[in-house]
Amino acid sequence: MVAVDTSAGRQGRRSVVVTGATGGAGAATALRLAGGGFDVIGTARSQEKADALVAAAAARGRPLKTVVLDVADPSSCAEAMGEVARMTGGGVWAVVNNAGVPQAGSLEDVSDEQTRHLLEVNLLGAMRICRLALPQMRLRGEGRIVNVSSGLGRVPWPLGGWYSASKHALSALTHCLRVEMAHAGVRVSLVEPGAFATAMLDRAVDDLVAADRGGAAGYDRSRALFGAVNARVPTPEPIARTIEKALTSPRPRARYTVGFDARLLVPLHAMSPLWLSDWVKHTVSGLPRKAPARAGVVKELA
Ligand SMILES: NC(=O)c1ccc[n+]([C@@H]2O[C@H](COP(=O)([O-])OP(=O)(O)OC[C@H]3O[C@@H](n4cnc5c(N)ncnc54)[C@H](OP(=O)(O)O)[C@@H]3O)[C@@H](O)[C@H]2O)c1
Repeated sequence: MVAVDTSAGRQGRRSVVVTGATGGAGAATALRLAGGGFDVIGTARSQEKADALVAAAAARGRPLKTVVLDVADPSSCAEAMGEVARMTGGGVWAVVNNAGVPQAGSLEDVSDEQTRHLLEVNLLGAMRICRLALPQMRLRGEGRIVNVSSGLGRVPWPLGGWYSASKHALSALTHCLRVEMAHAGVRVSLVEPGAFATAMLDRAVDDLVAADRGGAAGYDRSRALFGAVNARVPTPEPIARTIEKALTSPRPRARYTVGFDARLLVPLHAMSPLWLSDWVKHTVSGLPRKAPARAGVVKELA
């Protein structure tokens, strides 16, 4: 049993756990917060990656601590959050659930196993970390949770259906958590980034290569699209700045949408009639609107 220092959040530096801090938005966030007066504990999936993060922070004169954590593994989560409680004298002030994975591929091609892993990381893992952090936040009477979703949580995208679904579900749970925890002084925010240049889009392209069982509709176009997007979009510092805002604002917003594309596409999608958003998705993804003529299929099969 770890004693809780109930003054911890009110005095001095505030502590924050950033999951998935070894690259992309997580690394940008951990480094930014470490330079902004927070005691940062970044999580990594291996000691090697944790050491690399500590070295990168030290090179910038922004010391931070690390724990090894696989959010998809319940015992790793319990162990890591126990370690965090010891490091912080009873519990962390804030949690940023940033760790996430893509899962691209047609819904016909993505397996149960791949889906379970995606949901473990993007949804169950994030909520498990919340559950492990909340008792001490509640005892202290304050705390912050920032869950990193995606603009695609509100704009379901073909060949990325399970990813959109995981982020849509995270958005729903974050909404409920915000209402459930208000009385405990815990402020909960959702961050919805658009596209930013990280390893994630490369991984989505790899998923498309692996799932493609032989040039099914949409794969070629989507691979080219994801690759082109990754080459043109900005680095993830705006996500880090937004997360910092959610942690430092006296009245953090329920939802922050980050990036020009997300700020444009999320409201456009919400107000578009279905035929229009379907047309855009077919056109952009290269998925045909109509089945080929029956006679043609029979002829091809013959
Ligand atoms: N980049 C975008 O365009 C974009 C857009 C919208 C939303 N997002 C969201 O932003 C968040 C960060 O993504 P990113 O773009 O920065 O991706 P990234 O560069 O691939 O980083 C993902 C981070 O999550 C970690 N991670 C993966 N599986 C994990 C697990 N099982 N347990 C613990 N950590 C794990 C990775 O660790 P390893 O280094 O060990 O793999 C890495 O540190 C994600 O939630 C993502 O869905 C990104």
